[in-house]
Amino acid sequence: MKSCNVGVIGYGWAATAHIPAINATGLASVTSVLSSRPLDDRELSSRYGRPVKSFTSLKKFLAQPDLDVVDITGYPWEHTRNAIAAANAGKHFILEKPAALSWNDCLAIRAAAQKNKVKACVCFEVRHSGQFLTIKSMIDNGALGRVHYGEVDYYHGIGPWYGQYRWNVTKRGGGSSLLSAGCHAMDALLLCMGGEVESVTSLNTTSTHKYFKAYQYPTTTTTLLKFKDGRVGKCASVIDCFQPYYFHVHLVGSEGSLLDGKFHTNKIAALNKKQWSQLSIHPIDSGDVADHPYQTQFESFFKALAAGKDMPLTSLNEALNSHRVIFAADKSAAAGGRPVKLKEIPA
Ligand SMILES: NC(=O)c1ccc[n+]([C@@H]2O[C@H](COP(=O)([O-])OP(=O)(O)OC[C@H]3O[C@@H](n4cnc5c(N)ncnc54)[C@H](O)[C@@H]3O)[C@@H](O)[C@H]2O)c1
Repeated sequence: MKSCNVGVIGYGWAATAHIPAINATGLASVTSVLSSRPLDDRELSSRYGRPVKSFTSLKKFLAQPDLDVVDITGYPWEHTRNAIAAANAGKHFILEKPAALSWNDCLAIRAAAQKNKVKACVCFEVRHSGQFLTIKSMIDNGALGRVHYGEVDYYHGIGPWYGQYRWNVTKRGGGSSLLSAGCHAMDALLLCMGGEVESVTSLNTTSTHKYFKAYQYPTTTTTLLKFKDGRVGKCASVIDCFQPYYFHVHLVGSEGSLLDGKFHTNKIAALNKKQWSQLSIHPIDSGDVADHPYQTQFESFFKALAAGKDMPLTSLNEALNSHRVIFAADKSAAAGGRPVKLKEIPA
């Protein structure tokens, strides 16, 4: 299998985790970086132990004939332009979340990828974590029976101590509590529940603490999901809290339940339902990009590219399904909690 040459757009926090993760796959190598700040090629190459060329022009960066994949980090409001340009240059792309800040932009990215027959991987890397690979496998194996209720919630204070706060507080930069960060929880909830969402109802509020006053959008939202087959789910996105990072998961099914790293199932004879049993997994417990399972996700993407297939779990289509639910939730919250049918967001 030929190693892919990857060019990274943006050289901020996420890029510093993506580059070693891509190189560690052994299936690809970061050979170039596009940054609005001029970078020192010698410093970059020595840092990553291989030749890395830097660019400040998107046109020249995309004109590299031996570039196979573009990895789009950088500011969220530049994702649409960069993803469409990468697709039009015939490059497959990795796209950091949120894929875009409006549903129309998501559709434009999808159209460009389809037209140019390129594949994409969206960074909903939680799906590739040991925790969610295990949970998904338990669900698929019937350990919980039919899951009729699920809640996955995101609690992570994004205040001035956090690098992206400088742009995340703006509507143009962060978008909404869900788009900015809680999207990981909504995406994980949709993974666990499966099936189609019929409607969502969302409410929002904001902390009164001075650190969160800078936000141009409500920093806490809670969303109820109604699925077409009658099941229900809930997703809170709370980025204005003072507490340790917490990615809460509670799934309830006809044969068992799962709470974070604990479970009970009727499928194992004589398991005591008055006590939880423990899963040997490391839970998602950090917002630090150095702790994210990027390497597993990127390996999966490069293997899928070699096979000419869409990647499992975090393909563009799969990730846009989650974005569609998020835009419906934000529409509901903006309308004071009016239930929004998913069909109001054209597929
Ligand atoms: N999947 C995840 O869990 C996860 C985690 C973090 C960020 N992200 C996403 O990755 C993207 C980038 O986020 P980030 O955290 O890397 O943001 P960042 O603020 O670190 O970088 C954003 C942009 O700012 C530029 N920049 C950074 N430091 C600079 C400086 N000192 N001077 C001038 N420019 C500078 C970078 O080159 C980059 O283009 C966003 O879409 C974000 O939502 C995703």
